Amino acid sequence: MKIDLLHKPTEYMETVIILQEENGDIDKVEYLPEYLQNAINIVVKQDDFHFKYSSLKSFPFIRSRKRTNIILCGIGNPKELDNDRFRNLIAISVREAIKIEAKEAYLFTGFKNPLSELHFGHMLAEAALLTEYRFNKYLSEPKSSSLQAIHLAMDLKNPHMFNRGVLEGRIFAEATNLSRDLVNEPANVIYPESLAEVAKKVALKYGFSIEVFGLDKIKRLKMEAFLAVGKGSKKEPRLILMSYRGNPDPKANTIGLIGKGLTYDSGGYCLKNCQGMVNMKNDMSGAAAVIGTMAAITNLKLKVNVLGIVAACENMISGSAYHAGDIIRSMSGKTIEVVNTDAEGRLTLIDAIHYAISREHIDEVIDIATLTGAAASTFGNQISAVLTNNEALLNKIQSASEFSGEKIWQLPLYEPYKELITSEIADLKNTGGPFAGTITSALFLQEFVAGKPWIHLDIAGTALRDKEQGIYSYGATGVGVRLLTQLLRELE
Ligand code: BES
Ligand code: MN
Ligand code: ZN
Repeated sequence: MKIDLLHKPTEYMETVIILQEENGDIDKVEYLPEYLQNAINIVVKQDDFHFKYSSLKSFPFIRSRKRTNIILCGIGNPKELDNDRFRNLIAISVREAIKIEAKEAYLFTGFKNPLSELHFGHMLAEAALLTEYRFNKYLSEPKSSSLQAIHLAMDLKNPHMFNRGVLEGRIFAEATNLSRDLVNEPANVIYPESLAEVAKKVALKYGFSIEVFGLDKIKRLKMEAFLAVGKGSKKEPRLILMSYRGNPDPKANTIGLIGKGLTYDSGGYCLKNCQGMVNMKNDMSGAAAVIGTMAAITNLKLKVNVLGIVAACENMISGSAYHAGDIIRSMSGKTIEVVNTDAEGRLTLIDAIHYAISREHIDEVIDIATLTGAAASTFGNQISAVLTNNEALLNKIQSASEFSGEKIWQLPLYEPYKELITSEIADLKNTGGPFAGTITSALFLQEFVAGKPWIHLDIAGTALRDKEQGIYSYGATGVGVRLLTQLLRELE
């Protein structure tokens, strides 16, 4: 989809989208031809339409046998127009344009825009491209978006900044949609080896470096916790290492991004039920977020050094699967009693984290994982849980979240609950029982971060949507890509 700035609208317009403030005067919408103003005024009066926030009115107008689709979208009070609202308004109008099969839309605004030109361009492009996304490759008759262009009919003081914003927004959205594709692909298509192959293609396309370790190498590294989880599957595990170095300063920190990469989680011998399993192809959403973020930061040429790591495997049952009750030794040397084979994500993550710290010398740890159903129970599908040992990182990710619109909420790393993950016969056990599951899973991870500044994001609730809403469609949300990309921009 093309998104550009067009000072004067053309004589004939197939579709016009008008974002207007509450009770605003249509006659004051810049560049809107008079014959359209008149037509709109009639409808607005007739239907008592007031342009309240997120209200929509869509109708055709015919003039000299040519039809113009008119989409009116109310923005409410322009002073209340923040990133979330603006994205949502673009989503509402773009969704409507797609629904009426518009090809080329002209966007008019009838309010004083509180967003800067850079910001406006970013939000517009990002929201439009995210809204347009659909995972339809397996439909015999795919319904895809017909919308080819949005022309902004507006005079800007600084068109250059707007265009830069559009470019940025495009990068954010493209990386998010890449991550959505990976998550939406089922487990018969995306398994550790094929995930690694896709990651290689992404690396080649965007220009970051990548290395993939197979079974032998993972064994030699003694990543036994990771190996235990994957050994019940016929599909071999892969350790995917992605590196982007944008800061040549030898003293610069390296930030580790670690994404949970369970390409399928059946639960293992502590088997999930059917309903709990259907969506478990999405248990690599953290991995997909890391791969998407690598793409975005390379594209943006950020001045940061980042190592992305994914320990990809499948949690299955078979004669070679790990048992409930097994005691395993993690790469760090700490032993773990496996009291639940379905608490597998943390076992893969700790070896990836330990590897990144001990072998790759990362200075800061950011992990992202569909780790606990408890995070979904607590926060639903719009808020990710964040747990951290570092106040400065927390502030940064909070401000990134305000920018990206991906909501986060902090849970405490409550020390006394460590008792819940202590074992009589090993250094730790892999679950803390039925209560405070998100907290105890994070406390478990914390044992392996070696005191480094660390943020843990639990996206179990937010990785998926079961219906379309705002910029989201059915399926993967790509959560984390924009949040982490923006966080890395703040760490630049
Ligand atoms: N991948 C799941 C968590 C999950 C659940 C993600 C629902 C998305 C939606 C994870 O591996 C898991 O099974 N966690 C268990 C942990 C428990 C056994 C301590 C859970 O949340 O039930
Ligand atoms: Mn599980
Ligand atoms: Zn899992």
